[in-house]
Parts: sequence; structure tokens; C-alpha cells
Amino acid sequence: MAFDVSEIISHNEEETAHLARTLAKSAKPTDIFTLRGTLGMGKSVFARNFIHELAGAEIEVPSPTFTLVQTYETEKAPIWHFDLYRIEEAEEIYEIGWEEALGQGILLIEWPERLGSILPKEHTEVAFEMLGRGLRTITVSNYINE
Ligand SMILES: Nc1ncnc2c1ncn2[C@@H]1O[C@H](COP(=O)(O)OP(=O)(O)OP(=O)(O)O)[C@@H](O)[C@H]1O
Ligand SMILES: [Mg+2]
Repeated sequence: MAFDVSEIISHNEEETAHLARTLAKSAKPTDIFTLRGTLGMGKSVFARNFIHELAGAEIEVPSPTFTLVQTYETEKAPIWHFDLYRIEEAEEIYEIGWEEALGQGILLIEWPERLGSILPKEHTEVAFEMLGRGLRTITVSNYINE
């Protein structure tokens, strides 16, 4: 079940960055953010800014396209940034630290649909849709375990 849904229109990369930084400020250990949307929607822009807000702007944030995951130390909690586009089977997630991540991390997951039923019910979904050149609708929904 989803509640507390909010929808914003992002006109450019900077507005998506601002949303990411706002959500990062209130994120807590064990929070899970799924980033949904097709190629080039801004999932990585969101992740990079979220990470910069908590880990510092000087930190390099490479895309985990091939490594599937990158981790970052922050004062609040470690951030685990997953990009599961290239994962072949959902179960591979256990080989790249999934249980350790769930225990204490803040999780950012690009392509969460790859996890199927492994994805915990309780999470915040950030869903991107293309409206036009530079324009995106970004819908933030909190899913609870009921
Ligand atoms: N409103 C917007 N918000 C975010 N990015 C935008 C926006 N408008 C245009 N862009 C551009 O769209 C691109 C988004 O790229 P990004 O790598 O974040 O996409 P992605 O969703 O991670 O794609 P992929 O699934 O291929 O990894 C960037 O080049 C960015 O400048
Ligand atoms: Mg990406």
C-alpha cells in the first residue's frame, strides 16, 4: 500500500538535484529509495546529488553500471548505490552485500524492478516520467508493509 504521494514537475537537472538533496537531508539509516524510470530520465542525476549531500560534494560518484553497487561513508549511515540494469538474476544481489546494506545502510536502487519479490515492501519510490524536453514528472510515494 502506498501513501503520502507527492508529485513535482522538474524543469531541468538542477530541480531534480534539489529534490534529491532535500530527500537526502531527511533520510535515515535503513531507508530504501527506489529510482524508477526509463533510460536517461535522471535516476543517476538524483543519486549523485543525494550522495553529494551526505558524503560531500568533493566525492566522486561513478555510475555502478558494471560494478552493480558503490558504497559511500557518510556521518549518518553508509549509502549503498545499486544500478541493477545489468544484473542477470535477482539472487545475485546477495553476492554484492544486500543483507549488509539492509542492516544499516541508506539504499538507492536504480532498476529496482530487477529485484522482483526481493525488494522490501517498505520503501520510498521515486518515479520519473518524461513530459518533454528537459521536463520530468517525479512522483515520490512511501510504500508501507501492509
Ligand atoms: N528535469 C531533469 N532532471 C534530470 N535530468 C535531466 C532533466 N532534464 C534533462 N536531464 C538530462 O537527462 C539526463 C539524465 O541522465 P541520467 O544518467 O541521470 O539518467 P538515468 O535515468 O540514470 O539513465 P540510465 O537508466 O541510462 O542510467 C542528463 O543528461 C540530464 O542532464
Ligand atoms: Mg543511471
